[in-house]
Amino acid sequence: MNTLPYNGLPTTIIIFGASGDLTQRKLIPSLFNLFRKRRTPRKFQIVGFGGTAFTDDQFREHLHKGMQEFAGYEFTDEDWNIFAPNLKYQTGKYNEAGDFQKLADYLAQSEEGDVNRLFYMALPPTLFPTIIQNLDSTGQLRENGGWRRVVLEKPFGTDLASSIELNKQVHKALQENQIYRIDHYLGKETVQNILFTRFANTIFEPIWNRNYIDHVQITVSEKVGLEHRAGFYDSVGVLRDMFQNHLLQLLTLVAMEPPASFGASHLRNEKVKVLSAIKPMTPEDVTIHTVRAQYKGYRNEDKVKPTSATPTYAALRLFVNNWRWKGVPFYLRSGKNLAEKQSQIIIQFKEPPTTMFPMQTMKPNILVLYLQPDEGVHLRFEAKAPDTVNETRSVDMEFKYSEAFGQTTIPEAYERLLLDAIQGDAALFTRADEVEAAWALIDPILQTWDMHQTPPLAVYKPGTWGPPEAYDLLARDGRRWLNEETSMMLEK
Ligand code: BG6
Repeated sequence: MNTLPYNGLPTTIIIFGASGDLTQRKLIPSLFNLFRKRRTPRKFQIVGFGGTAFTDDQFREHLHKGMQEFAGYEFTDEDWNIFAPNLKYQTGKYNEAGDFQKLADYLAQSEEGDVNRLFYMALPPTLFPTIIQNLDSTGQLRENGGWRRVVLEKPFGTDLASSIELNKQVHKALQENQIYRIDHYLGKETVQNILFTRFANTIFEPIWNRNYIDHVQITVSEKVGLEHRAGFYDSVGVLRDMFQNHLLQLLTLVAMEPPASFGASHLRNEKVKVLSAIKPMTPEDVTIHTVRAQYKGYRNEDKVKPTSATPTYAALRLFVNNWRWKGVPFYLRSGKNLAEKQSQIIIQFKEPPTTMFPMQTMKPNILVLYLQPDEGVHLRFEAKAPDTVNETRSVDMEFKYSEAFGQTTIPEAYERLLLDAIQGDAALFTRADEVEAAWALIDPILQTWDMHQTPPLAVYKPGTWGPPEAYDLLARDGRRWLNEETSMMLEK
């Protein structure tokens, strides 16, 4: 793997929310794997900060348990025992300036000389301003020697106004180039591969536009329900949890113009341009172009309000109003408790303008980017069925990561993103204006749903592909969701 030059100083990673789920499930397994691959800085330590009163040893034990459950790769206790001494813990409250002074003193005595510090907020966004202010007032953000960077977990705000305010607050203490707003979808290999498919080849780009593409479908379906996050989820819902970030990010990568480079400014400029080319919906648009739904039984879930109108599923029809995409619908959908876990992007091409073959057997070409599971890219095209006069049959040309790259396991998205943050590469992180542009699209939908209750909240059966209304959304355009067909392609 190519790595960027790194200033060579020892690095401390400070995790706020260290006793929480994200740290145990994702952050530590990713940092440990980077360590095993010798990609962490030569001298580094990880200092957890949180409300739970752990000693260093209890913290290590807690994380070790998490590793056994969530790591997703084999590891030896020997390796863990080499890694574990780098893990330290400080108990503290996020609103106690005194606890931050203690943290500052602790860091000063545990570090030697100039050092880099990466502060990771594995916490709800309402806590970011207080923590950043406490870090600032105790001098911990001052770049006197090494760099200071802050990683902010999603969701970045709860609507447009709160995200603008949050940006304002964090900019009081930090420059934009010190801020790394994370969206873990961008750390996924297959998501980055959207750009490689488009821009490392010449065969796709000439047809990647309204002249050849009929429409685009982006599906991120989940089989899981609320897991243990009902309290959080019920106040958020699917649009804030999945669309404002992950689905819109996928859309930008599919729709963007070729950036001049893979560098942070070029890439993020192009993503912002895509978001700004989508017109925010009016209440009438929301009624016609969106579907919101809740799975049957949601209101009986523990910690969910019995009258909750929180949607656990949504489908949207969006248009990117520029020369490349004018008139091409982008259908986006995501939900919990659906038939399968599946993240995929389907590009359906237009039908041939005329044909000498019997039309009834012909299907349009589709290109499917399978993001997860069964990662790969498939192209469906028509071929002559043998031993017929003129019948066609759809066939599939496929690339599967598992076949092309053998046993190489696809690393956890957080691995790449943590490494990028340490190396100062912000290309796969979301810039302030980008987050706000995404909220500007989601806000009117949320408002119409909440204030006008339109369209009505639909219901779907757990284990299905969503409510009938989502099928109608496409049927009105003479189209249908293609994922069931593409699942069959995979089974072959
Ligand atoms: C998170 C959402 O950002 O992404 C979760 O908060 C969701 O609700 C998760 O389950 C999905 O991520 P992945 O990587 O499993 O597709």
